[in-house]
Order: sequence, then structure tokens, then C-alpha cells
Amino acid sequence: MPLITVIHGDGIGMEVIPAAVEVLQALHLPLTFQTAEAGFSTFERVKNALPRETLALCEASDAILFGATQSPMIKVGGYQSPILSLRRYFDLFCNLRPAQGNGLDVLIVRENTEGMYSRRERVEHGGNTTIAERVITAKASERIARAACEWAMKRRQKLTVVHKANVLNETCGLFRDRALAIAADYFDLTVDEGLIDSTAMHLAQDALNGDGSRYDVIVTTNLFGDILSDLVAGLTGGLGIAPSANIGANGHGVFEPVHGSAPDIAGQGIADPRAAILTAAMLLDELGYSAQADRVRAATRETAHTGSTPKTTEAIIERISQTAS
Ligand code: NAI
Ligand code: MG
Repeated sequence: MPLITVIHGDGIGMEVIPAAVEVLQALHLPLTFQTAEAGFSTFERVKNALPRETLALCEASDAILFGATQSPMIKVGGYQSPILSLRRYFDLFCNLRPAQGNGLDVLIVRENTEGMYSRRERVEHGGNTTIAERVITAKASERIARAACEWAMKRRQKLTVVHKANVLNETCGLFRDRALAIAADYFDLTVDEGLIDSTAMHLAQDALNGDGSRYDVIVTTNLFGDILSDLVAGLTGGLGIAPSANIGANGHGVFEPVHGSAPDIAGQGIADPRAAILTAAMLLDELGYSAQADRVRAATRETAHTGSTPKTTEAIIERISQTAS
């Protein structure tokens, strides 16, 4: 029986994650749940934002449902963002960010471990020159491309490799070549490539025109994927309905809504739970319950946020029960 570790985190994570668990439980699947702690309030108590016990619980489970944690505005000694630690610990190389709305229906597959976020920055000339190194490896490019191809096969079988190889000849050049080489093995895929800047423009135009036929799955490097996925989230309805997943090499997956802990509305019961519920649907996909995942997605998309977390959750559960198979 699949075991899910549930980490509420801080702020609205404590409201929207229980809502997502309620939806999962309403499906009556053989799933078991255990909760674990992480976040800033955990840090304040035990001086560790991601305690060892939490890691052990995550390690022993089949999937992790993660809310959001609050990061202190100023550097606090010893504090590390739990989601970044989880990404590193489980080698969560694949960041999946689907977005649907305004005609668009895209899945951004973002390389999650290297690129511009390799943390290789240095200061020269007494602080007047700063340098960041962008690391792109064949291995990481190939594995993210393979993941993207697999997802594209399950969708509309269209893959676009997004890069800036005309300027970043070496780094984007390697990423582009390896990704296209992997994609060439998938005979059923329609494979295309695009530059990051023009892709951003095309996505915006497509959303304005309500025509999502151009893109299905987009695979790209870390920073480009970070920006592009926020762009499509904005174009398709915003943070309230933006889910994501971080998939690891060894099968571990951390599923989290894109939004943060939203301290401005936390504790009021008004957070939109739909992003967390759509995130739970991605978790169901990963565990092999894709029919149930589709039911959750359909019910969530048909439900407007009423302004009350429990009422919206209730309405979604009601819709799901009407489609019970
Ligand atoms: P945020 O996503 O928490 O909030 C941005 C704005 O969107 C706020 O006005 C908020 O009220 C609204 N919002 C977000 N989710 C919503 C929802 N489900 N329903 C209704 N309104 C929603 O981003 P922000 O304000 O930049 O960060 C707040 C805290 O969250 C920071 O400490 C930040 O470090 C953390 N954060 C954590 C993330 C994670 O754990 N993965 C990701 C992003 C931010
Ligand atoms: Mg981001």
C-alpha cells in the first residue's frame, strides 16, 4: 500500500495541504499517510528546518506531498530552505510544471540540478566584477530529455527543446544537441526547438489568441525553466491553480504547489486549495492512479475558488463523488 509523507510546512501550507489530503482520502484508494515536519517554525523550535526524522520518513515513503515553507527575509545562520535540501538529497532532477488555461495546455519540464543554479559564483576585482558559472552536462541533459520525451508520449506527443544555443554556444549547444539526440529515438514524437526569448513571446501570443496548438511539452535548462514556468502559470490563471512535481532518479517524488507560504493571508481560511489539489493529482499520476488523477483534475478545473478554503475543497470533493466510477 503506497505510503505518502505529508509535510504541511508554514503559512497556508497548513491549510491547503490538509485540503489536498482530504481529497485524496475521498477517493478511497489504498493509500496511507504519515505527517512530518519542516519549515521555519520547525527551525525555530529544533534549529533545523528539515530534521533527520523527517528525511527518514520521506526516505521510507513512496511520495512526498509538500506545502510551502517560509524563508526568512534576512540570512539566518543554519537555516536552509527544506525544498532545496530535498531536491539535493533525493537528486530531484526533474521539475514538472503543467499549466492549463486560456487555450494553453503545456507541461514545462525543467532541469533541476545544474545550469545557472550550480552555485558557482565568485567575486573578483575587489567586488567590482561578479561571475557565475553555468554548468551543463551531457548526463543531466540526456536524463531530463528522456523524462520529457516520456511525458510527451503520454500527452499530445509534441516536444520542444528550448535553449539559447545561438549565444550560449557551448552550454546551450550541448543541452540542445543531447536533448535532440535523445528525442530522435522517439519515433512517434514531433520534435521541435526554440529560443528561450521567442518561446516566451509565442506563449504570450498563444494565450492572447486562445490557441494552444503550438506547444505541448517544453524541455529546458534550470533558469529558463524557472522563468518560463512562472510565465505560463501567470498566463493560465496564476498561483492559485499552479501545481508542480520534483521527480528523482530513484523514484522519489516531491509534489508541491508552486506558491509559497503566503503570510499575508495565512490563518484566515481563504487560501485557494486548488493548486495543492492539482498537485495531489500529479502525485496520483506518479503512483499509477491516472484515472483518479484525471477525475481530480476535472473536478478541480470545474470548481471556482469561493474565497473559503474548506468550502472550495468540499465543492471539489462533491464533484468527484458525482463522477465516482
Ligand atoms: P507566495 O506564493 O507565498 O505569495 C504571493 C502572493 O500570492 C501573495 O499575495 C499570496 O497571498 C498569494 N497567494 C499565493 N498562494 C495563494 C493561494 N493558494 N491562494 C490565494 N492566494 C495565494 O510568494 P511570496 O509572498 O513571494 O513568498 C512568501 C513566503 O513563501 C516566503 O517566505 C518565500 O520564501 C516562501 N516561498 C516558499 C516556496 C516553497 O516552499 N516552495 C515557494 C515560494 C515562496
Ligand atoms: Mg521560481
